[in-house]
Amino acid sequence: MDNVQEIKQKLDIVAFIGEYIQLARTGVNWKGRCPFHNEKTPSFFVNEDRQSFHCFGCGAHGDIFTFVEKMEGLEFVEAMKILAQKAGVQLQEFNSEKSGLKERLKEICELSASYWQKCLLEPVGAHALEYVNKRGLTEDTRQEFRIGYAKDSWDDLMRLMMSRGFTETEIFQAGLTVKKDSGNGYYDRFRDRVIFPIQDVHGNVIGFTARTLKAEENAKYLNTPEGMLYHKGDILYALDKAKSQIRQKNYAVVVEGNMDAVSCHQAGFKNVVACSGTALTPAQISLLKRYSKNIALCFDQDEAGQNAARRTIDLLLAADVNIKIVQVVYGKDPDECIKNNPENWNQSLKIAKSAMQYYFDSFLTPENLGNILKKKDAVDRVVSEIVKMPNKIEQDHWFKQLAQILDVSVNLLRESLPQKKVEPRGFIAQKPVASAVPVFQPKKESTVERILTILMNYPEFIGYSVENFSLDLVEDNFLGKIYKNIIIIYNQFSSDITKKALIDELSKPELEIEQSYLDSLFICVDKIYEGFTRELIQEELVALIKSAKKAFFEKKVNVLRQSISISEQNKTADIADILKDFQYYSQKLAELK
Ligand code: CTP
Ligand code: MN
Repeated sequence: MDNVQEIKQKLDIVAFIGEYIQLARTGVNWKGRCPFHNEKTPSFFVNEDRQSFHCFGCGAHGDIFTFVEKMEGLEFVEAMKILAQKAGVQLQEFNSEKSGLKERLKEICELSASYWQKCLLEPVGAHALEYVNKRGLTEDTRQEFRIGYAKDSWDDLMRLMMSRGFTETEIFQAGLTVKKDSGNGYYDRFRDRVIFPIQDVHGNVIGFTARTLKAEENAKYLNTPEGMLYHKGDILYALDKAKSQIRQKNYAVVVEGNMDAVSCHQAGFKNVVACSGTALTPAQISLLKRYSKNIALCFDQDEAGQNAARRTIDLLLAADVNIKIVQVVYGKDPDECIKNNPENWNQSLKIAKSAMQYYFDSFLTPENLGNILKKKDAVDRVVSEIVKMPNKIEQDHWFKQLAQILDVSVNLLRESLPQKKVEPRGFIAQKPVASAVPVFQPKKESTVERILTILMNYPEFIGYSVENFSLDLVEDNFLGKIYKNIIIIYNQFSSDITKKALIDELSKPELEIEQSYLDSLFICVDKIYEGFTRELIQEELVALIKSAKKAFFEKKVNVLRQSISISEQNKTADIADILKDFQYYSQKLAELK
């Protein structure tokens, strides 16, 4: 966690601003007189949930940092020092030279990337350019991915960087040189190789992967080692270029090789990232989840690839991510598949399978089923995956499939299972992901879902809802979160709110609202209320809110009635409070009738 996050977590904006001005609670916000302009009636709001403030009078807004900057007339770094002291947070990065060094290492990487890009187009790089061309990369792709060439020299890059004022140690720390065995001095790490800069999610170059041009070289790829800037497990190659498409298409494709990602992008499949030949790490998974919770994995068919795939599937399931497994219909990897025909890759995505289907297909091969020992082993492995499924209906489905394949009855299959108890994984039922379009599970929408879809599509009714349907009436945590955010957004925009603004705000990754669900909620208005006029929708909303309230109050009344009767029997607890609540909710219920 960086210092900014740590400070934000330790300080509460409401309490903090409350030390400067008087704040009073109004609904979900706190309200007071704006300290940044003169006003008699309060129009300055502080929101606890988003830890932000907004003044509808003068437009001032921001977070706790902005507040201190404006209030005390300070620069960010100064504001940070004040807040850090208040929060009791140690500012390592600003006090030491660490952040300064990091910036310099980034500069080294950036300069090297530009320099190597230039070298690729010079006579000295002619053979490398020929190689890149032979692999089918266009000039646009070369530029987009900043592909370059490092000369066949022991010190070309090192000398250039030193002439730019960087020290030997800094160049080494950026990962660009290797220490000589003798212990004194360094030499260039990347020599006579095609260079692929590795960029973080913001596009900063932080490392490199470099391909040999020789057919017989042992080390096909050389990479920047782990260091201050580059942490392999935190990075996904091409994510900076893929992130917007991942969000838009609402699914990401993860391939193994960097070249695979480059080829995919060149062929127009821009929601593709590469994990550079290893299983995904939890850090990479949470990075991807910011953009979509639907992930299609395409690992090579070799044993290393399949092992990485299995490890990744387990991690993804634990992270509540929807998974599809892509197997290329042609070639050994996506790059070869696309080179042959981009339509083949499209087809591979279309027929992507669920993780369980993938286990079925890879374990229950004709070869394994034809040999009694292998068969037992294969069945055990599949069963061990099935019993991990937390959803009994899905589990049943797969048991039936398995029984059919083995040509035995389901009962026999279940009886022959080892009786050991298996803990289900901590994730919700594994939902199928479509490879092209995420599937919206058809089901009957609840009253609250209906209310939300109307509000999202007719934001002009949010005001009515805010007045008449308070947040605590929504029991479902997930729907409550969406409704809460709708109210907050409404408070920020007030009556000016447009459908687009609402959706944009709700889609912000920091809200952590599952985007595919949001989409389906947004869209289902047309499904349920096809042909309704605005007036009818309005009537419907009024009726829905009434019915949601009624259901809520009825439930409360029933629960309280039960606890009254239990308390009376026991004659122990003091039932005054329960009776008061009971009367309160009965009254509310009566008002609705
Ligand atoms: N890799 C690596 N070092 C190696 C081999 C592979 O770091 N010696 C990583 C690279 O990130 C590479 C990925 O593993 O992109 C996948 O390896 P592989 O499938 O062998 O490479 P391809 O992407 O197919 O490379 P190419 O098509 O250029 O042969
Ligand atoms: Mn390849």
